[in-house]
Amino acid sequence: MSAKLSVLIVDDNRTNLALMDMLLRKLPGCVTQLQTDAHALLAGIDRLDYDIAVLACRLPQIDGITLASRLRDEPRLRHKPILLTADEPNQGMRGSAADAGIAEVLGKPINPVEFRARIQGLAHQRSPQADSASPWDEPAGAPPEVTAREEEYLNALVRVAGYREQESPLHSQRMARYCAILAHNLGLPEEFCRDLRHAAPLHDIGKARLPDALLRKSGFLSPEERREMEEHTRIGHGMLQGARSRVFRMAAEIALTHHERWDGSGYPQRLKGEKIPLTGRIAAVADVFDALTSIKSYKTSWSIANAFTYLHDNAGEQFDPACVAAFESAREEIAEVMRAMPDPDDGTADAA
Ligand SMILES: [Fe+2]
Ligand SMILES: [Fe+2]
Repeated sequence: MSAKLSVLIVDDNRTNLALMDMLLRKLPGCVTQLQTDAHALLAGIDRLDYDIAVLACRLPQIDGITLASRLRDEPRLRHKPILLTADEPNQGMRGSAADAGIAEVLGKPINPVEFRARIQGLAHQRSPQADSASPWDEPAGAPPEVTAREEEYLNALVRVAGYREQESPLHSQRMARYCAILAHNLGLPEEFCRDLRHAAPLHDIGKARLPDALLRKSGFLSPEERREMEEHTRIGHGMLQGARSRVFRMAAEIALTHHERWDGSGYPQRLKGEKIPLTGRIAAVADVFDALTSIKSYKTSWSIANAFTYLHDNAGEQFDPACVAAFESAREEIAEVMRAMPDPDDGTADAA
């Protein structure tokens, strides 16, 4: 999250307001503006500014969808993303919200993990006029999408990383697809999911600088060898950081954080919970799932069912529970990726 993210929250229920305020203040650099009175808000619309608005659907004087339209009538605010919170959002309400230009609808009671994930997602689609940049915003003058040339560079790097791959030859590609599916199920914006799919295959590129003997070693590693192996995270980050490209910067973050664990016992920084960037939390789930279900030279693959059970059993310890839940809800799509990209001599016939 950037140094400054201003979120306007409008809700006449002070308990809801306090909860959302507390959740957002835990995000680094996030500041909130709280408002219970929609008319007072509109009376001061000339001075109003924010990056994201969170509006309750049911308000005493005006409903949230109408309020969203009024805010979007103001040219300065037209492109600011809006999240609508509603007691029981149905299809009709979602349709009206979409017509009013509302980016997201979230059901109440507020699920803290989902709420923060949605806000983080919306932070990525802030208006280009925003005076502060999210980590993935391109610097001025840079192209907004992955260009064909950038994709060529990325693909070449992925091939280089693949030479040092300890997993199956298709591990990185499948893992990246799983990342994108998981992010999509978390409700993150399409652009973020697309970037993630390009960035995630580079998660282990730091292994390019590790000695062959270490990478090829089968069996247990000594404590010293383990420490050396763990360095691939910092090495990969060092290789990718500092780029202008949004995708490369995302890849750097994933390289550094994909072995962190939700309970703080991972490496290299022993980050805990939401201190781990969302990209790293997503990559951790996808990476382990593919490692378990793909064939390595010294083991056979797990069935899909067993791999999902492993993720489920380790949610809240190794993995972010929200990421595991989002991954579990995409079981069919995951199985489809496995069918489409089998390992050579893949034993996925037992996958159910
Ligand atoms: Fe790794
Ligand atoms: Fe991996």
